[in-house]
Amino acid sequence: MWHKGSIKSLSLLIEKQYGIRCDENKLISQMPILSSIQTKAGFLREEDFLNFLTASPKSKELIEIAENFLIHETYFFREFKQLQAFSELLLPEIVEQKKRKGDVTLSLWSAACSSGEEAYTLAIILNELLDRRVFPSIRIYGTDLDRLVIDKAKKGSYAGRTLKDVPPGYLGRYFLKEKDDAYSLGSQIKGMCEFQVENLLLTKPPSSQRYDVIFCRNAFIYFSDANKKIILNHFLSCLKADGILVIGSTDSISKIESPFSTFTRGGFTFYSKGNFGK
Ligand SMILES: C[S@@+](CC[C@H](N)C(=O)[O-])C[C@H]1O[C@@H](n2cnc3c(N)ncnc32)[C@H](O)[C@@H]1O
Repeated sequence: MWHKGSIKSLSLLIEKQYGIRCDENKLISQMPILSSIQTKAGFLREEDFLNFLTASPKSKELIEIAENFLIHETYFFREFKQLQAFSELLLPEIVEQKKRKGDVTLSLWSAACSSGEEAYTLAIILNELLDRRVFPSIRIYGTDLDRLVIDKAKKGSYAGRTLKDVPPGYLGRYFLKEKDDAYSLGSQIKGMCEFQVENLLLTKPPSSQRYDVIFCRNAFIYFSDANKKIILNHFLSCLKADGILVIGSTDSISKIESPFSTFTRGGFTFYSKGNFGK
């Protein structure tokens, strides 16, 4: 059993490194997992293990501990009405603006994408609504802190509850039936998406502003106000001049001094880097 002081230090270390608020009681309840990670790493004493974690905040051991606090709840077409507002009202405006500029690229980021359902949902929506001859180059990037969910996203095979909100007709059109109730994404949609492990808190400023739209839904609830601010500024630097940020309808950033301006479509609030929506 670890001392209370060590538990507190570990909890602070995880929050500093990954932004995840990590309840000390939950850490205590996860002592068997913690001890097993400590033993596997070859440390007998908690002080030595804690010193090692503090000196190596990028170690696989710290990420393994942190992964036990992550909540990966996600499913295809989550927050359907917000997606409808995005695809039916906002997307046509984005497309019009791009056409005026002669820009035929479209680049979206599903940040904190969990096992990839959000990124694939966006790929399906864009494929349904956009003329791929006009927009031949559509890319959707999915990132998450947790390696296991990113591996699942790369595989692109799903079963059960996560498929419950896929609109009728889309399962047959965009998925291939595997055995039992499992479906895998067809190559057309899979080919539009790319996944990688990335910590939203430690991402370096980008060399270029790459994204037209960033979706970061149902992740802000886990971050402190200070970390929300860091992440919002990072998103700002990753978005193109007219870029848009979409957060979940239960995510709150209203207390943060946000670098974004807001506008509404279909009753939903969207965040704009420039003058979009004005
Ligand atoms: C509840 S899921 C949301 C998934 C998806 N965006 C959705 O709305 O369905 C939250 C995700 O945030 C990820 N996450 C938490 N902290 C993170 C961080 N610092 N960097 C990247 N991802 C993080 C978790 O691993 C988890 O998969």
